[in-house]
Amino acid sequence: MNKHWLVMAAPAALVLAMVMQPLMAGDPDAGAELAQGCAACHGADGNSSNPQWPKIAGQNERYLRESLKAYREGTRQDPLMAGEAANLSDQDIADLAAFYAAQTPQIGSADPELVELGEKIYRGGNPETGVSACMACHGPSGTGNAPAGYPAVSGQHAAYNVIALRAYANGERNGSMNAQMMQSIAERMSDEEIEAVSSYMEGLH
Ligand code: HEC
Ligand code: HEC
Repeated sequence: MNKHWLVMAAPAALVLAMVMQPLMAGDPDAGAELAQGCAACHGADGNSSNPQWPKIAGQNERYLRESLKAYREGTRQDPLMAGEAANLSDQDIADLAAFYAAQTPQIGSADPELVELGEKIYRGGNPETGVSACMACHGPSGTGNAPAGYPAVSGQHAAYNVIALRAYANGERNGSMNAQMMQSIAERMSDEEIEAVSSYMEGLH
């Protein structure tokens, strides 16, 4: 076999293998059982009542799986979630993701004072400081991009959104390529922009 061919084909085959990797099927009924242990913080149906804890109802399966694996492996760090994810098997994670993805997120409402700036950032970013439009990846109505595993942000608690954006901006949440992509966006945002767009997303649907 020609060496040149190998050099060209190996990366292509790797990418293909990654794209075609079949998802382990998740069983939402088994997930519902396991989710009883998560309900105290995330609510029985994934709609948390504490605004600092994320809603995970209706989140896409790929993002849910990747998040739980990241906590388990320690590439995403949180004192509460580390213990929760430590003993989950890949099958448990697939089952939990299938359960939460099938739940309906509760949409909140945006602070009327912040809507104008929030919408401007969400839809158009800030060309002066190089902040990308959030809509490009999180979708015009905040539903995310399920095949790519980009998270839905529609209805998410503003307080949690602020925590997440600050964690990206100060480098606390940068353990994956996706997180680093968000880091390069969040670190360009002012506190005012973070507050406004966080509130806007809570009402977005
Ligand atoms: C003691 C409270 C608590 C319990 C119990 C808990 N979580 Fe969490 N969970 C949190 C907090 C707080 C965060 C946000 C952490 C952060 O900022 O990374 C979180 C984040 C998550 C995320 C990431 C959400 C996102 O939008 O990025 C997922 C997925 C998740 N939890 C699933 C679960 C599952 C499944 C269980 C049960 C096996 C569980 N959690 C149990 C508090 C909890
Ligand atoms: C190029 C695509 C892209 C753009 C543009 C983008 N995001 Fe993200 N965003 C992502 C991805 C991918 C993640 C998940 C990263 C990870 O795994 O931590 C994410 C995560 C987030 C999270 C955390 C979600 C959670 O549940 O923890 C928030 C909040 C967020 N983005 C807000 C924004 C805002 C606000 C903007 C616009 C200023 C924006 N994003 C622009 C791709 C993008």
